[in-house]
Amino acid sequence: MNKTDYSAVFEFVFLGLSTYRPVQNFLLAFSVVFYVIIVLGNLLVVFSVMFDAHLHSPMYFLLGNLSFIDMCLSTVTVPKMISDLYSGKNIISFQGCILQIFALHVLGGSEMVLLLAMALDRYVAICKPLHYLTIMNPQMCVLLLSGAWVIGLLHSLAQLAFVVHLPFCGPNEIDSFYCDLPWFIKLACTDTYRMEFIVTANSGFISTGTFFFLMISYIFILVTVWKRSSGGLSKALSTLSAHITVVVLFFGPCIFVYMWPFPTVSVDKFLAILDFMITPILNPAIYTLRNKDMKMAMRRLGNQVPGLRKIS
Ligand SMILES: *[C@@H]1O[C@H](CO)[C@@H](O)[C@H](O)[C@H]1NC(C)=O
Repeated sequence: MNKTDYSAVFEFVFLGLSTYRPVQNFLLAFSVVFYVIIVLGNLLVVFSVMFDAHLHSPMYFLLGNLSFIDMCLSTVTVPKMISDLYSGKNIISFQGCILQIFALHVLGGSEMVLLLAMALDRYVAICKPLHYLTIMNPQMCVLLLSGAWVIGLLHSLAQLAFVVHLPFCGPNEIDSFYCDLPWFIKLACTDTYRMEFIVTANSGFISTGTFFFLMISYIFILVTVWKRSSGGLSKALSTLSAHITVVVLFFGPCIFVYMWPFPTVSVDKFLAILDFMITPILNPAIYTLRNKDMKMAMRRLGNQVPGLRKIS
């Protein structure tokens, strides 16, 4: 293979979720509606947490930051998908594809660390309530948050370092609606066995490991509460069930995509919808609408915006 072959691929073509026009129209309507809800819902959470003094606590800071990451995560993939469905041009440049992979892994990595931080926060609040404010002090929150971003960045750079120089010469069709490593690697015209292993190790083991760690932490918290008093269990369960739902829905698709990096059936692209369109809606929905503090904060925020006063 000579050098000119290497640069033969300047762009990739997404095969999308469906080639059937009525299904595409349905997907277009569905993603526009969901994306608008995701952006508005998460912005509402971010602004409520930032501007309402009642919500200046570690739990809400983490929640606000989670909403922000979720919104970015959808923004990396959904608007591109909407424009592809609308225009019928399912093309992304080589650089665009790399950028998408980079952003997805920075945000995904940070979200994982943030979910760990939120589990730690619940553990301290429920199992060590007397030390809550000394352990989860403002410095700790900033440390956890910067840790999340640094780890996400390192994780993403470490993976991309292995794949940016892969040669591409032939097929350029991606059987999905966004770029990610398993599909990207599959298109390279070289022996990709080693790459498969790296992706599985870096993304697959990290997501599986984090998932089991989080599940064990939540079970541990529930058992601690249950041993202490029988009345507290149902209250803890109702708080933690929201966390557990988000964790399952977020990690399920990740584990599937990265632990079976080269599946023969293309279910992974449908599972990805969970991460980009369902979990980002769930966060504002389950953490906030069931939460009295948050609802009151939103009402107060609404009263500060003059135009909204009449509605609320
Ligand atoms: C994110 O967390 C930091 C550190 O705790 C906090 O200062 C900031 O307000 C949070 N951002 C949002 C949008 O909640």
